[in-house]
Amino acid sequence: MRILAIESSCDETSAAVVEQRDSKIIVHSNITATSIAIHAQTGGIIPENAAREQVKYIIPVIIEALKLSVHGSRLTANEILEKNIDAIAVTYGPGLIGSLLVGVETAKTLSFTLQKPIIPVHHLLAHIFANFINNNVSFPFIGLVVSGAHTDLLYFKSATNYQWLGGTKDDAAGECFDKCARLLGFDYPGGPKISKLAEKGTFKKELLPKIMKGNDLDFSFSGLKTAFMNVVKAEFEVSNTPNGQGYSWIHANIETLPQEKQQLLYNLCASLEQTIVEVLVRKTLHAAKSYGVQTILLGGGVSANKTLVRQFQLEVRGQRLEIDIFSPEKIYCTDNAAMIGAYALLNPKEKSWKSLHAQPDLYFS
Ligand code: KG4
Ligand code: ZN
Repeated sequence: MRILAIESSCDETSAAVVEQRDSKIIVHSNITATSIAIHAQTGGIIPENAAREQVKYIIPVIIEALKLSVHGSRLTANEILEKNIDAIAVTYGPGLIGSLLVGVETAKTLSFTLQKPIIPVHHLLAHIFANFINNNVSFPFIGLVVSGAHTDLLYFKSATNYQWLGGTKDDAAGECFDKCARLLGFDYPGGPKISKLAEKGTFKKELLPKIMKGNDLDFSFSGLKTAFMNVVKAEFEVSNTPNGQGYSWIHANIETLPQEKQQLLYNLCASLEQTIVEVLVRKTLHAAKSYGVQTILLGGGVSANKTLVRQFQLEVRGQRLEIDIFSPEKIYCTDNAAMIGAYALLNPKEKSWKSLHAQPDLYFS
């Protein structure tokens, strides 16, 4: 089965054509347009702006994905859709309502006009199933979703049978990275920027508190964000900077800071990253041991973090565990349509276009 997949839950507009061969998902095309530059100007995502950008990109992105999926063909995108595509998969939640509506209504219209089945996809589950792209993965496994707004642990017996084990009670891991980076004046997404500064620093246990010492499977990152903010307030002078800037001047002035303040900033970022990574690794391995599984799948933007993946591998080796760790290729970590198609191929539950609605607050049942 060949699927046209559509993702439009937030600030990325993406379309892909995917197919299953054995237990692997093959991606024929995956095109993503992002409106991130616009949101950088407003200091964060304004939902109406994101939705407007989705409207602008959705059709060109679908056309490009269809054309790219058939190499050297003279067929038009419409002909490819009619002849080569068996079903349409689309993200129906969670996400921003305006953004979701664009993808869902486009998919419904294509389904109605071309008489193709439609497969609704849960965005967060798809982040985990991104690992099936170009990989043979077997069940059961533990899935860790670490995206901008979500941190969740799940136990999967099969593609259709899963159990939610725990999640964040306040900020998500990605959100903690983003808010700490924003305090320093960095644009969204903050995770990669903190991670880059962290490369020049060293973990210092006295800088930030050890968090979530318990063995439960829930998360909480807002206290860590506050602790990070308190160190920045205590260590960096705000009085000699233009009014109203808070600490946002830091990012543009790192090179001019005194040597010891520069190093402190790098160490603080390394400590933040390491603290987040430590708790994600500890709790996920605890879940894997408790459920007796030998496979862990990471997914979502934060799974692109190299320290996270490295720390998982070090712990598995150090504790002599027989657990395989998968994290998607970088382009499939952040929002993309190929992962939506991957989930749909492994879980092809069709729905009539009439009964499909965008669900911004969709969570796990
Ligand atoms: O999955 P995603 O693209 O969007 C959501 O569905 O939320 O995730 C975006 C999140 C942001 O919080 C971003 O800062 C984080 O992923 N992120 C990273 C890295 N790359 C993206 N966090 C840490 N290290 C990275 N290399
Ligand atoms: Zn996402």
